[in-house]
Amino acid sequence: MNETISIRRFRDSDAESVSRLIVDALLTCCGPDYPPEPLGAFARSQTPACMRERGRTTHFYVAEEDGTPMGCAAVGRDPEDPGVCGVYSFYVTPEKQGRGIGRRLMEALEADPWSREARLLTLHASLTALGFYRRMGFDFRDGCAQPDRDGLYMMEKAR
Ligand SMILES: CC(C)(COP(=O)(O)OP(=O)(O)OC[C@H]1O[C@@H](n2cnc3c(N)ncnc32)[C@H](O)[C@@H]1OP(=O)(O)O)[C@@H](O)C(=O)NCCC(=O)NCCS
Repeated sequence: MNETISIRRFRDSDAESVSRLIVDALLTCCGPDYPPEPLGAFARSQTPACMRERGRTTHFYVAEEDGTPMGCAAVGRDPEDPGVCGVYSFYVTPEKQGRGIGRRLMEALEADPWSREARLLTLHASLTALGFYRRMGFDFRDGCAQPDRDGLYMMEKAR
């Protein structure tokens, strides 16, 4: 199903297309679950410059098909606890969802050397993606199924 997809590390030249796919996924998929603002403000903050910074500070992966980024996801070390890695910027372009690209990206994050050294992966899940992360083996942190004030759910997975 997803044999035409390859997963590779982000390059600075991906910044514009990855920024666009994130804005598209946020507004199209998360729009029904969140108020237009601050969702719009968050989408506007996902600039190409922000992507290049993410590429410098995390291990940032891109799912590519025919030379075009169709998804992205990052893993980064917690500066206060080297045993914990955060998962960030997890998006698949709306028209390519449901084809296993998210799973491939999660496999890449879990195979990443930083996450292999960690004892715990953590993330803030949108309501939109909650079912996906549960499917990928993440549970609510401290069993708390309540969202924070931004409407995000703290989730974790032991390594
Ligand atoms: C969440 C997201 C990354 C999933 O990517 P995807 O490529 O559609 O997921 P996959 O096709 O790889 O799905 C893998 C499995 O998870 C399941 N799944 C995917 N999304 C799901 C959801 N919202 N609820 C329940 N299960 C879900 C699939 O059915 C599949 O199950 P399987 O094991 O039976 O095959 C993607 O839908 C997305 O970008 N959503 C909008 C943006 C967003 O909210 N990003 C996260 C910000 S925290």
